[in-house]
Amino acid sequence: MTVLLKLEDVQSFYGSAHILHGLNLHIHAGESVALIGRNGVGKTTVVNTILGLAQMKSGHVVFDGVPVTKPRTYTAAQHGTATVPQGRRIVANLTVEENLLLGAATARKGPWRLPQIYKLFPILQERAHTPGTALSGGQQQMLAVGRALMANPSLILLDEPTEGLAPVIVDQLADVFNQVLAQGTALFLIEQNMSLVLRVSHRYLAMAKGSVVAEGQVVNSHEGLHDLERHVMV
Ligand SMILES: Nc1ncnc2c1ncn2[C@@H]1O[C@H](COP(=O)(O)OP(=O)(O)OP(=O)(O)O)[C@@H](O)[C@H]1O
Ligand SMILES: [Mg+2]
Repeated sequence: MTVLLKLEDVQSFYGSAHILHGLNLHIHAGESVALIGRNGVGKTTVVNTILGLAQMKSGHVVFDGVPVTKPRTYTAAQHGTATVPQGRRIVANLTVEENLLLGAATARKGPWRLPQIYKLFPILQERAHTPGTALSGGQQQMLAVGRALMANPSLILLDEPTEGLAPVIVDQLADVFNQVLAQGTALFLIEQNMSLVLRVSHRYLAMAKGSVVAEGQVVNSHEGLHDLERHVMV
């Protein structure tokens, strides 16, 4: 199986604050991996390291078998990795459609273009010419997911995409994530909502204090949920 992304013995910092302590992980093509763990354990820092927004002082990020010692946002994009960042980061001065087209700036060849995104999220077509930040929280999250898909990525990093959203929107996103997976794109889902992890992910990685401390298969059952929840309970 092709490994799309691998982190090897990664040590990451913000200034002098040492956040990731020898972190290892890998994601195969088409796989759905969840990264779970309590607040502040360093989940977002994993994404920031992949994008070059946290300083990796040792270790490697390996894209498609190519080790990179100084990853940058464009390195990830070049290797087909798109991101849905925590807090969504919709560009305020741009319309919904312009925000979607931003995602296409680094696009590879693939099935996702505006019509397919609008089919997935009809509300985005209805609101195509309104400012992106005029949308509700749930709609902005759809926009962030649509923007990532416009890159036709082989892997999408999703950092707490359902944070603060109503259950009905979470259900809709779960459906979309499963459609995206069925179409062959791998997902790396950082999530605190374990019921979403059960529905979307194949494998989980649990973090504590800046490294991966446990991993396993996600089993969609009561025991499976219990198994996940013990890694995030305060
Ligand atoms: N820019 C920064 N400068 C210094 N320290 C930071 C910075 N960003 C985050 N941290 C610290 O790094 C640690 C890990 O933060 P990170 O955001 O990766 O956690 P997280 O697991 O994503 O948390 P959450 O579940 O709340 O999103 C925390 O102690 C946080 O305070
Ligand atoms: Mg975070």
